[in-house]
Amino acid sequence: MIAEVLAGLAVREGGRYLDATFGGGGHAAMLLEASSPNGEVLGLDRDPAAIHGGTMLEKKFPGRLELHEYPFAQLAIPLAGRGWDRIDGALFDLGVSSHQLDTAQRGFSFRFDGPLDMRMDQGTRTNTTAAHLVNTLSVVELTRLFFQLGEEPHAKRAAHAIVEARKQEMFQSTHRLATLLKEKLPAGRPGLHPATRIFQALRMAVNNELEQLEQGLKAAMERLAPGGRLAVISFHSLEDRLVKHAFKDAAVLPQSDGPVRLLPQKQQPPPPFELVTRKPLLPGDAEVRANPRARSAKLRIIQRREPSLSRVP
Ligand SMILES: C[S@@+](CC[C@H](N)C(=O)[O-])C[C@H]1O[C@@H](n2cnc3c(N)ncnc32)[C@H](O)[C@@H]1O
Repeated sequence: MIAEVLAGLAVREGGRYLDATFGGGGHAAMLLEASSPNGEVLGLDRDPAAIHGGTMLEKKFPGRLELHEYPFAQLAIPLAGRGWDRIDGALFDLGVSSHQLDTAQRGFSFRFDGPLDMRMDQGTRTNTTAAHLVNTLSVVELTRLFFQLGEEPHAKRAAHAIVEARKQEMFQSTHRLATLLKEKLPAGRPGLHPATRIFQALRMAVNNELEQLEQGLKAAMERLAPGGRLAVISFHSLEDRLVKHAFKDAAVLPQSDGPVRLLPQKQQPPPPFELVTRKPLLPGDAEVRANPRARSAKLRIIQRREPSLSRVP
């Protein structure tokens, strides 16, 4: 959704932008082009491989791109290091990159056999692997995890099957887990592997994804300059729901819940943020055909109001 992100962020010459999920650098490159000749991008990724892979792009845009290996919940640290207290725009393109998904050794995909790892940061900050969760959580804990983070309708059945199977042998590989789930869970929707939601839940738990998102959005919104925009691309309903509510809450007037009497609605200054997208933007058919992974993408954008309209100084 490159064109939509560019237009949605209203990228301008000389602006300062945060790419909170650098990945393969496709969006960062586009932000740099669109803000030429002197716009700057600070790129973050919690995966050291992504940061390492970005050195070519840093060379291509000398002095305009700076990369840091940081989880975006801690984005305040690299921003302060760069001396930026305000940014003109930020992009969060959530989930895993194609590179992570297609590298068997990372353990994100049931399509390949690899270690059940799933740590986006390859262990630099995260100790718990997917194998650890699968081999140590109780039936109740696994059921809750699969239900809450995977929205898996057969969460309990999957949890029981795992706990039974690990009595014979602990889980080490993606292949063994995927095979067991295929055997024990009903087929479900055509084209959806029975392990899909379980793998999603494990990945989200290993990487604390919802907590990261909540904290990252808050930190990015606090640092938006007046007129600055935040764009978020999410890939499943749990993420999208969180983004939708965070944006709505920031764009409505606070309700009085105590003895303090608020001014009548009409006289109140507007809230500090406004929604740029009331409904999420979706990828077009051509993009989904070219990249089937884009089919569930949703883009939402919020903007900090200009000073004359804002209650925030
Ligand atoms: C979908 S990819 C981003 C692709 C990128 N926009 C591009 O154009 O190539 C998501 C990236 O975000 C990173 N990521 C996910 N959660 C993160 C977090 N909490 N903090 C920092 N990076 C994160 C992943 O490691 C992955 O590289």
